[in-house]
Amino acid sequence: MRWKKLAPVVLSLCCVTASAQEAREREVYITIGSEALDSVRTSFRAAGGTAPTLVREANGVSVLKMNEGQLGTVSQLMHDKYHRCAGFMTHDTQEAALAALAPAQPSLTQTLVSYTLDNASVVNSLFAGLQEPSLRSTITQLSSYTNRYYNGSTSSVQASNWLRDTWLSYAAGRPDVTVALYAHSSWSQPSVIATIQGTVSPNEVVVIGGHLDSINLDVPSSSRPSATAPGADDDASGVATLSEVFRVAMAQGYKPARTVKFMAYAAEEVGLLGSQAIAQAHKADPATLGTVVGVLQLDMTNYRGSTVEVTLVTDNTNAAQNAFLGSLIDTYTGYTRSNITCGYGCSDHASWNAQGYPASIPFEALLSQDNPNIHTANDTLANSTGGNAANALKFARIAAAYLAELGKGTLPGLPSDTTDPTVSLTSPASGATVTGTVSIAATATDNVGVNKVEFLVDGAVKGTSFTSPYSFAWDSRTVANGSHTVAAKASDSAGNSATTTARTVTVTNVSTAGTYDSTLKTLRCSAVNATCDSGTAFNGRGTRGPELNYPNTLRGLCADGSGGTYHNDESLDGVKVSTVDGTPFAPGKQVKVEATVWAYASPSSDRLEFFYTANATATTPVWTQIGTSITPTAAGTVTLSATYTLPAGATQAVRAQFRYGSSSTTSACVSNEYNDRDDLVFAVGP
Ligand code: BES
Ligand code: ZN
Repeated sequence: MRWKKLAPVVLSLCCVTASAQEAREREVYITIGSEALDSVRTSFRAAGGTAPTLVREANGVSVLKMNEGQLGTVSQLMHDKYHRCAGFMTHDTQEAALAALAPAQPSLTQTLVSYTLDNASVVNSLFAGLQEPSLRSTITQLSSYTNRYYNGSTSSVQASNWLRDTWLSYAAGRPDVTVALYAHSSWSQPSVIATIQGTVSPNEVVVIGGHLDSINLDVPSSSRPSATAPGADDDASGVATLSEVFRVAMAQGYKPARTVKFMAYAAEEVGLLGSQAIAQAHKADPATLGTVVGVLQLDMTNYRGSTVEVTLVTDNTNAAQNAFLGSLIDTYTGYTRSNITCGYGCSDHASWNAQGYPASIPFEALLSQDNPNIHTANDTLANSTGGNAANALKFARIAAAYLAELGKGTLPGLPSDTTDPTVSLTSPASGATVTGTVSIAATATDNVGVNKVEFLVDGAVKGTSFTSPYSFAWDSRTVANGSHTVAAKASDSAGNSATTTARTVTVTNVSTAGTYDSTLKTLRCSAVNATCDSGTAFNGRGTRGPELNYPNTLRGLCADGSGGTYHNDESLDGVKVSTVDGTPFAPGKQVKVEATVWAYASPSSDRLEFFYTANATATTPVWTQIGTSITPTAAGTVTLSATYTLPAGATQAVRAQFRYGSSSTTSACVSNEYNDRDDLVFAVGP
């Protein structure tokens, strides 16, 4: 039966000569150490075939695009020359390959941020202040410089200085606001950053950015420092958009709860260099620079290329924040929107995303309909939509909504929130006896808006709910049986909070875990309960490990197969039986039996059967099949289930049989080297 191990998978190409694989035409991407690049190319040239395309090179790793059939040649080469098995990774898409170049780190801050829409009064007030002529004059000014090329251009430094001075004038009289150039050591143009200190959570930072630099790609790079590059859309429009939001925020005396930083990055057009330096600096020193909780990028806002008014880039961005941005657009602007992908890190959001920060970018068009004049001397305001800034003004509204709803905070004209929320527990009842998963629920109100409700058990926060109805599923099995207290604490975004008085509940869990019965020779739940669970004791198969007390079948009848290796080949890893209605086992009740299996790489060649016996203590148990053979739906860990009606009998059992074989059976013990059976005995009430 070992022939099944030869089923072709991509990795099996390694260290075998390429053969039939060469014929396949699918395109794949590989990441490979750049030191091997020359040899890879040489060997393809020697073979007279098409050389793979170099897609990207970074940090000593290269991404190559090739036909799947060419993988064998690379594999052979890596083996022959570098004596490495593989030494490269394959990816189905360019996105996946590029992601492997700079793996996006999981966003550590993401769950700390609640995305709420409860600052409408600030949003609408900011909207009222935004002015198209003001926005337009910033685009006009920025695009009037010969260029804003990142290095070796006098006008680009002048543009940075002008923006710094303009922002300083907006912030006059605000001791809580700083505006400064951010110098870069490797090129001449500085970035510009305006910081408004947060009033409630100053260590949490919201970034709104765009790129200040421009480029003319029609001339050779040696001429770029002096070439005309107005960059009116790319990206004077984005910088002017956020500049207008900053102007109005200052004019109206906006005080954010979180710290907000407006950023105009240098050197985007030459590889996101300015934003990369700034994002890395924030990652390296959160104590000084704060923890970034959200980034909005504005790059190209003033050209209406498509019918849809706003597109949201879904790659190299944060899905949760994108959803929040989508709901801001829907709630406050009504602009039509759709999603797009760049396919690579197309703007500064990617620099923040690469450092693990949630970033989003609303864009002006579908990618196929984007502004044809960017990166040329013709990227002018006259060539932007309507020759004015009306389109960019829409993005200023989006950015203002993002500012007010992620930065939170207040305007002096608006009443400041000094009122505590109200909160009360709706469940569990005081003095309740609880088991298993307990829903702790609360209602909360606030004059402005509830930000979150936290749920406390014995005084410690165990869960948080950001949306009404506020509730938390608490697993009472995480505490000892006996008396415990539950409470709920509601907070608003101004930092006011209220906590309910603690309620006492009594936890009375009965263990649902089976314990090994040395007479029956498998796990047994001796007390009548609603669930009986093998836990991890069945994990593995026979001598292939790590299954404890294998074979875990009644009286040891029906041994496990001993072929293959753990979690490459089949094993039955867990069995659980529980009543559908959650009440204790009794004759006539519907029960669900679940099996967690490890399915082989080609799962359609495996089958699972369930059986039950009404008398588990019989010397020779009689098995009745539940349903028919089931085929796992995926490789690896899969949970499969069936239901049946409990017969009479005080000590019953279920058997799951997981096996290598693609036909059905009614036998409770089919012999094969990859087969595994596990029985679970459980007490049934009267
Ligand atoms: N604003 C563009 C990106 C862009 C252009 C997005 C057209 C969507 C449609 C940005 O300034 C830019 O040119 N980015 C570079 C990438 C960067 C890593 C040099 C690009 O897209 O080539
Ligand atoms: Zn550009």
